[in-house]
Amino acid sequence: MSNNKIIDGKSISAQIKDEIKLETQKLTETQGIIPGLAFILVGENPASQMYVRSKGKACEELGFYSITERLDENAPEEEVLFFIKKFNQNNKIHGILVQLPLPSHINEFKIIEAIDFRKDVDGFHPQNAGRLLIGKDCFYPCTPYGIVELLKRSGVETKGKNAVVIGRSNIVGKPVANLLLKKDINCTVSVCHSFTKDIKEHTLNADILIVAIGKPNFLTADMIKEGCTIIDVGINRIPDNTKKTGYRTVGDVDFEGCYEKCGKISPVPGGVGPMTIAMLMNNTLKSAKGEIQF
Ligand code: GUN
Repeated sequence: MSNNKIIDGKSISAQIKDEIKLETQKLTETQGIIPGLAFILVGENPASQMYVRSKGKACEELGFYSITERLDENAPEEEVLFFIKKFNQNNKIHGILVQLPLPSHINEFKIIEAIDFRKDVDGFHPQNAGRLLIGKDCFYPCTPYGIVELLKRSGVETKGKNAVVIGRSNIVGKPVANLLLKKDINCTVSVCHSFTKDIKEHTLNADILIVAIGKPNFLTADMIKEGCTIIDVGINRIPDNTKKTGYRTVGDVDFEGCYEKCGKISPVPGGVGPMTIAMLMNNTLKSAKGEIQF
């Protein structure tokens, strides 16, 4: 699926990964540095297992070193903290990623806070979240970073445009709103959520729509302005008997309904998803190069 209306995350992410691979080769040849990424996976969540596998594969492809610690579903919090400490101290490791969600007996915030923020390639540590808020150099969370990169590389004008973000999560909604406010992007940003009174009033005014709420077909054609850009962040599994797996993956946007009216749209799958991994690799390379001015 590729034309100038569709924002093709698969090909844009492939291009970014090519750039990273070349830079990594150069870094390794000239300075002997191999970017290193450590994964911690707790439990057997199938989606989490798949994400960690894909991220590990990307490391192999790009010439990174990676290591995965797989812990039991019932592993105590102390065990997760033990591995974080170990990776914090290991100078072969430039990035640490604890796959979320964690089992409910583990305090997610405590875990994120334990990661050295200089190795927090997820951008979830309060140091990085705070620095993003005040416009200081830091690691940007990978999905929001990927969204902004999709807009840039698809030639979407952002300066002075109305961006409406639907969803206020710490992983997507809040950080993407902050990225869109930055001085090199300059959007006017609104954030809508479950208590927003009249969502349509906001979305009809949007030049750029970022939809990240986890509800299939939430955004429909009657809610959008002619010519707007739509970024669909949803990953929803819906039953589909024609598929071997018994399900198919759809986003939060009624793609067929919105396609004619919008100016540009990112599909699911093949939009934001592949960008998240590419930006994780980008953050890890930046970390290995010591590029972020903390
Ligand atoms: N779970 C869902 N998205 C993410 C992500 O970007 N990073 C981590 N660590 N866990 C996630």
